[in-house]
Amino acid sequence: MPVKALGKKFTLTNENLSINAKILDVLRSKSHAYISGEELSRELNMSRTAIWKHVNSLRDLGYRVEAITSVGYKLLSSPSLLLPLEIKNGLHTQFIGRDIHWEYEVNSTNTVALKLAEEGAPQGTVVVSEAQRQGRGRLGRTWISQAENGIYLSVILRPSFVPMKAPVLTFIAAIAVVETLETLFHLNAQIKWPNDVMIQGKKVAGILTELRAEMEGIHYMILGIGVNVNTTRFPKEFQDRVTSLSLELKEKVGRVKIVQTLLEALERWYLVALSHRSDLVFERWSELSCTLHRCVEVNLGNEIVQGVATHLGASGSLFVKLDSGQEREILAGDVTMVERV
Ligand code: BTN
Repeated sequence: MPVKALGKKFTLTNENLSINAKILDVLRSKSHAYISGEELSRELNMSRTAIWKHVNSLRDLGYRVEAITSVGYKLLSSPSLLLPLEIKNGLHTQFIGRDIHWEYEVNSTNTVALKLAEEGAPQGTVVVSEAQRQGRGRLGRTWISQAENGIYLSVILRPSFVPMKAPVLTFIAAIAVVETLETLFHLNAQIKWPNDVMIQGKKVAGILTELRAEMEGIHYMILGIGVNVNTTRFPKEFQDRVTSLSLELKEKVGRVKIVQTLLEALERWYLVALSHRSDLVFERWSELSCTLHRCVEVNLGNEIVQGVATHLGASGSLFVKLDSGQEREILAGDVTMVERV
């Protein structure tokens, strides 16, 4: 583990980091050869001493850069962390991920994102960490956030919506996760209402949406996404209900490509939602859902509702048809699919 990266934090907007990104670009373009300090300093228009300082800061982050006197520099390997420098390298988005705030460990990426949003961080800012001390889940639960084994990220959005339309944005996050797993791994994941991403009945990812709004509009919305990637052991009480990508694929999985593909899918669907095509989002969610048209039990905390999940309400609620024929609209709860005999 790159111990030196522990405790560090930075944002890619920081000037030093963009210089580091440029140095990495040049080193990567010469992946099999050394590049002299002189050539680097010419290409980047800075002194050789400054180059040396930046190379050392890359080393602090876990990049292995060989330096041979009178020969030059060569990039030997990159750290397997979700560093902004890595995520930005090959990310095809217009605004999601333009600013990436990374810290090795935080209490919760959503909490950091809420603070940044409050301070005026632009739409599309991403907060990502390797570990969370107090990862938060829905309904006040904890999200297990083992170091370097999962994806813990939060995206700041500032949609020009009335708050009533906010749920559609929660749905785009789940859709983006499912499409990412399909694109990269041909995994057939599905969505359990409202937003649990499941593989063969086990949860692999979850979404926690938080927002600050007034009647007339949304100030900002935080989409917090957690994906179990390389976790191979979960606490006993969860073992039969959760899974990870590496457990499903039987191999260790790289996280950077997943984050890039996820941010790209998220932006695509966000633009659909912004163009007032929520209908397309609900339609896609329904296609990917494993809840609709199934017999379900919904735990409301103080009551359990049983019936057939029929459709979504305009605000993302779930309609359940009871045995009596009556319909119940569920706003929040825990769904279990049940087999009827
Ligand atoms: C759930 O299914 O209960 C939602 C889990 C959401 C977890 C993610 S991890 C990144 C972000 N930060 C948090 O504290 N929670 C969300």
